[in-house]
Amino acid sequence: MKKLFIKTYGCQMNVYDSARMADLLAPLGYAPADSPDQADMVILNTCHIREKAAEKIYSELGRLKRLKDTRKLHGRPMTIVVAGCVAQAEGAEIIARQSAVDIVVGPQSYHCLPEMLAKLARSGGHALQTDFPAEAKFDSLPEQNARAGPAAFLTVQEGCDRFCTFCVVPYTRGAEYSRPAADILAEAQTLVAKGAREITLLGQNVNAYRGMGPDGDSWTLARLIGVLARVEGLKRLRYTTNHPRDMADDLIAAHRDVDALMPYLHLPIQSGADRILLAMNRQHTADDYLRLIERVRTARPDIALSSDFIVGFPGESEKDFDATMSLVRKVGYAQAFSFMYSRRPGTPAAVAPGQIPDDVKNERLLALQALLASQQAAFNASCQGRVLSVLFEKPGRKDGQGVGRTPYLQPVHVDGAHTLIGQIADVRIEAVLPNSLKGSLVSHTARRKVPVH
Ligand code: SAH
Ligand code: SF4
Ligand code: F3S
Repeated sequence: MKKLFIKTYGCQMNVYDSARMADLLAPLGYAPADSPDQADMVILNTCHIREKAAEKIYSELGRLKRLKDTRKLHGRPMTIVVAGCVAQAEGAEIIARQSAVDIVVGPQSYHCLPEMLAKLARSGGHALQTDFPAEAKFDSLPEQNARAGPAAFLTVQEGCDRFCTFCVVPYTRGAEYSRPAADILAEAQTLVAKGAREITLLGQNVNAYRGMGPDGDSWTLARLIGVLARVEGLKRLRYTTNHPRDMADDLIAAHRDVDALMPYLHLPIQSGADRILLAMNRQHTADDYLRLIERVRTARPDIALSSDFIVGFPGESEKDFDATMSLVRKVGYAQAFSFMYSRRPGTPAAVAPGQIPDDVKNERLLALQALLASQQAAFNASCQGRVLSVLFEKPGRKDGQGVGRTPYLQPVHVDGAHTLIGQIADVRIEAVLPNSLKGSLVSHTARRKVPVH
């Protein structure tokens, strides 16, 4: 048996891809390793979204090279693979910078890994593959295996055609591609048969999903969700990540009509200033976004909202930043991600005038993060005393504890719930900690205390 170690950076689509690479390599005799030093093959599944994320890879590769040299002395070779978005963006340059790398494979071509390994075994050297369409990949992957767990990811859409001026994704993941609905349904059924109770549908722009339906029509994400919600045993559905322009009426209605669709929406806006939104090529205004939020809240009043923000985009004035702060105050987020603008090679904003100094970016980020943290704390505090349904995903660190998530995606620790992994149970929220909730199981007798007459 050979051992495989995969380290995953970046978004949930990379998490999905890492699991699929493991599925692909299992028939070649690769079993999971606990650490890179035990591994015959190490895959770094990389992210190119911000400079820091991408640069980290080279220091990690330096460490792996030393490990590879040591193993070689003991007659145990190691194959180093760089996959993901850095592989796509930098290609052969990775091998030029670190010759210990054996294989560079892009996010749309990792189904070629077995073939590339065979080629290396035959003729040595390096192998590089960065240019296949996503379609070929999905068609040639094996079935998802049993490691999915109670909460699984399922990629339904890849790539992005929106070309926001700061973003590398359209270049690293290529053009938008939606998988056929029947393939997704089959994969969901497999996941449920193997224990999944919740599925998060993934895509860089998942709400732009337009996949071929079994009836030959082009299906929207809402239509796909409607069908998945009827899969026996599948209790919860989520989807991420979204563009405001693609938030269609039928998807908003699904939040009202589909019980399995969880009341949580990640809807990134990036900035609250119209001139920055324009320069970012987001193609909507702050007001458009606020109206959209209003409609979503009308459909599902308790929905928890989340977003992504970039501070210090080129040309962002103090006034523009204030507009972002004011938008955040208007919306009230349950949770959000925020980043300092990072110049990415090849994107229009990287060469735009008015680049913002790091200290200003940093100051703005701290202010925004303080506001978002206070909103998250307020949202969590509002759950204190409530009874929420929790899907238990894994045992907690403390004996007997189970950890799960509420419909609003908050992690909850519950004593005595270690036997409930994979099940949904009612939990009374008793304490609000900085990054999670604590609760206790509501027994059925306690729930029946409500008088009948
Ligand atoms: N498709 C999603 C975003 C995917 S990238 C969307 O349209 O919202 C995830 C997040 O990374 C983005 O929402 C953005 O906030 C951040 N991001 C992308 N490029 C960035 C850059 N150059 N600098 C800083 N943050 C960036
Ligand atoms: Fe990047 Fe998202 Fe914009 Fe696409 S929509 S370019 S993934 S930020
Ligand atoms: Fe990163 Fe690629 Fe995802 S750049 S965020 S891993 S799509």
